[in-house]
Amino acid sequence: MPCTVIVGAFWGDEGKGKIISYLALKDKLDVCVRTGSVNAAHTVWLEGKRYALHMVPAAFVYEKCRLLVGAGSNVHVAKFLEEVEAAKVKNRIGMDYQASIIEEKHSTQDKTSAHLKGLGTTGWGVGPAIEERVRRTAKIAKDIPELQPYLTDVATEVNNAIEADKKVLLEGTQGLLLSLFHGTYPYVTGRDTSAAAICSEAGVGPTEVDEVLLVFKAFMTRVGAGPLPGELIKEEALKRGWFETAAGTGRDRRSAPFNFELARKAVKVNGATQAALTKLDASYPECKSARKYDELPSEAKQFIKEIEKQTGIPVVLIGTGPEALDIIDRRK
Ligand code: IMP
Ligand code: MG
Repeated sequence: MPCTVIVGAFWGDEGKGKIISYLALKDKLDVCVRTGSVNAAHTVWLEGKRYALHMVPAAFVYEKCRLLVGAGSNVHVAKFLEEVEAAKVKNRIGMDYQASIIEEKHSTQDKTSAHLKGLGTTGWGVGPAIEERVRRTAKIAKDIPELQPYLTDVATEVNNAIEADKKVLLEGTQGLLLSLFHGTYPYVTGRDTSAAAICSEAGVGPTEVDEVLLVFKAFMTRVGAGPLPGELIKEEALKRGWFETAAGTGRDRRSAPFNFELARKAVKVNGATQAALTKLDASYPECKSARKYDELPSEAKQFIKEIEKQTGIPVVLIGTGPEALDIIDRRK
């Protein structure tokens, strides 16, 4: 803090929603800017209730946090309105005038294109919607009557907040290896997902960022097609406690052990200064709900030390369960 970027290290689903919800509550975030689009679902567990957020920033859990949707994001209007209602954030959420709109036709294009289907897209239409923005025929937020109450200049709001020394978080979606530029092309999403792109979508310059917090999961997963080094068969994934289904689409996630070489790449390309490690309890069940580093078994500590050694950045937050507060916080 004050300005932190949260970015995923691998193919998304690292648990960014959980880390953001923890930081919102613990650090009392002032502002959180969501980037990306409706294809990403950020899961937040709060007091036994589960939210899978496609549009509303995961920091909504802290009731004083101002929530913003950046100019570079792609907005699904019905989903946005539905989540604003469900999360009860109507009076504290804003959206940039120039955010792009995803329409039903984009989803249809996504689902009916043999090429996109072959890549295993989520089917929300994010790629086709971005194509339309590039052609400069896309609708933007200010064209939509239902969005009028929310419109604001996000870049100005967020830069003013940074200048006033407020605690600002820029919420990235997916992970580096789904980046259009840096990922496993063509098995990637329709946008750059790196830390620099998150800043760009929010309207924040690189010199304003204090920390880039890279989120790792204790193992790797991906949905859709494309390479996954060290991929396990489903039976083995189940045995190791690493089998998951996607929060957004319900599809099975493929899984593989943590890969240090890919981790180092993610640190470099994102300029990461710190790491979070989620789902440590999936690999080491004795860690479940631990709140102190000393409570961890020595194999788990060894794994964390190895990540720090191989990536050169400290693992400051460790997730030990699904609830927002199931975290070991090693920040000073
Ligand atoms: P699209 O982003 O819907 O175009 O899908 C392109 C690829 O990115 C597919 O492999 C999707 O499964 C993957 N993808 C998109 N969003 C997410 C996400 O939030 N988590 C994990 N994978 C995603
Ligand atoms: Mg997700």
